[in-house]
Amino acid sequence: MYRAAGLVALLALSVHAVLEDSSNTAFQLGANATIGLPVSANYRREIRTCTTTCNYDEQLYRVCNGKNKKTCGYWESVKTKKKVASGKTTYNKNKKALIIKNMKESDFGKYMTGNKKTSRYVEQIVSFGK
Ligand SMILES: *[C@@H]1O[C@H](CO)[C@@H](O)[C@H](O)[C@H]1NC(C)=O
Repeated sequence: MYRAAGLVALLALSVHAVLEDSSNTAFQLGANATIGLPVSANYRREIRTCTTTCNYDEQLYRVCNGKNKKTCGYWESVKTKKKVASGKTTYNKNKKALIIKNMKESDFGKYMTGNKKTSRYVEQIVSFGK
């Protein structure tokens, strides 16, 4: 009896996890991605980089506000403080979304608001043949 209740609880938990996943999005390489995220002064993303081993690189994007011309509008590695390659990124306040043109391999990962309170996974759709 207790066992059955446990199973139901576990099931409810997994359904919840799947529903939470609905905030994730997927795009093909080269797509113009619209990544819905609330308005924020900056955004972060975690990009998985694999050479011999895999690591996560945290990157920061500052939205241009007219006073930060030199440091806004691109993704920068938090660790190296260097610009990283990416599709051209802008934030659209009307759509409440980051827009990334021509998605590159290095643009797929976990996207967050600057304070990390909202996050969303952006996955790559891989299609085999046509
Ligand atoms: C992405 O947007 C540009 C215009 O900004 C357009 O020329 C291009 O065809 C679009 N690409 C895709 C894959 O929709």
